[in-house]
Amino acid sequence: MMSQENIATPTQDDSPATILVVDDTRANLRLLVEILSKQGYHVRPAMNGDRALAAAQADPPDLILLDIMMPDPDGYEVCARLKADEQTRQIPIIFLSALNEVFDKVKAFSVGGVDYITKPFQVEEILARVETHLALRQLQKRLEAKNQQLEQEISERRRANEALQQTLQELKATQTQLIESEKMAALGGLVAGVAHEINNPVGFSITAASVLEGETKTLLKIYEADNLTRSDLADYLDTAQESSQLILRNLQQAAELIKNFKQVAVDQTSLDKRTFNLKSYLEDTVYNLKPKLKKTTHTLSVNGDETITMTSYPGAIAQIATNLVMNSITHAYPNEEAGNLRFDVSQNQGKVTIHYSDNGIGIHAKHLAQIFDPFFTTARHRGGSGLGLHIVYNLVTQKLQGHIRCESTPSEGTHFILDLPIQLNAKE
Ligand SMILES: Nc1ncnc2c1ncn2[C@@H]1O[C@H](COP(=O)(O)OP(=O)(O)OP(=O)(O)O)[C@@H](O)[C@H]1O
Ligand SMILES: [Mg+2]
Repeated sequence: MMSQENIATPTQDDSPATILVVDDTRANLRLLVEILSKQGYHVRPAMNGDRALAAAQADPPDLILLDIMMPDPDGYEVCARLKADEQTRQIPIIFLSALNEVFDKVKAFSVGGVDYITKPFQVEEILARVETHLALRQLQKRLEAKNQQLEQEISERRRANEALQQTLQELKATQTQLIESEKMAALGGLVAGVAHEINNPVGFSITAASVLEGETKTLLKIYEADNLTRSDLADYLDTAQESSQLILRNLQQAAELIKNFKQVAVDQTSLDKRTFNLKSYLEDTVYNLKPKLKKTTHTLSVNGDETITMTSYPGAIAQIATNLVMNSITHAYPNEEAGNLRFDVSQNQGKVTIHYSDNGIGIHAKHLAQIFDPFFTTARHRGGSGLGLHIVYNLVTQKLQGHIRCESTPSEGTHFILDLPIQLNAKE
């Protein structure tokens, strides 16, 4: 960097460095201008402190050579003022002082000078010091530029990060919206299904009731005309009995549908959360099913870890277990075989797994994907509503915050696997 061929350390844009030379001794000034110009620097002379300040502020040079002993303001003063100004603060200042002058080096550095040269000058020394400080200044400038670039990159990254965060939030909002609209669609489907299901029994009831009404009117006319025979009355009573039975049966079916439908909307208040032993709770639930099992030859057992203590909704678990067992009784053994129904419980890392299985006729692969859908049933003719497993699904996923799946091999049996958290969040 300081080689002889290197003429004048250039500034960043490759133009020669600008040096402001300040000296009130004309001969010194001329000499310095000559030496430095020869070296290729762009040199600007100033005869006193005030001119130096004006020149530096109008167009900041790359370096200043500054005489100390000048009439007011002297070199220290000029230096101090340049250092106080944001625009000129960074310009390196080399002080010039005559050997015979009283020269305070400490002051020179404390007001902000980077170096000093004593007169009479040695050309080599001046050039070496000038070049060194210009090079230093160049490096400093490059560092500053790098720093600025880094800062810019950081703020760009921060902005990118913020944009990402925003996108993420928007995505989350969209996802919530999607889930909501999916729920609404499911609810719409459910309502349409309920309307459809209830339409039949209510329709039959209306038909039966209007038949009864028509027959009654006819009978009344005959009676008023005093033409009523014994057989007219017997016919009417037959019709009345048949119609009222039909009405009753269909209204009962509609009422049952409505009761089931109410359960679909997993009632949030009727179930209490508490801490309980899972295996003994299941045993109690199964015990309550004894009357239903009495009419069959099935065996029902609860097996597995006796130490599992859950904090959850036992009522929901009872409802689920009851539905699963009732399904085995209703669907799995059409030929009244003696079935083997069992629960198996285990725990692992904050999760409980409940296996429930029967060894009945199983579920056909093409039905397996639909069993949790509302109104899917293969037993409509026998009064099945197809809401049982849908209720189970809602209880497991919503109330108990778990998962349920079903595996089945036709003619071998059906197997449900439930994964549930042992401990439900406090806010649930
Ligand atoms: N253990 C099982 N073995 C064989 N098939 C089953 C079993 N459990 C359920 N299924 C099949 O899944 C269908 C849906 O069951 P789900 O409990 O939802 O309705 P359902 O029992 O028909 O009617 P509901 O429970 O509303 O009275 C049943 O109709 C039956 O085809
Ligand atoms: Mg059922």
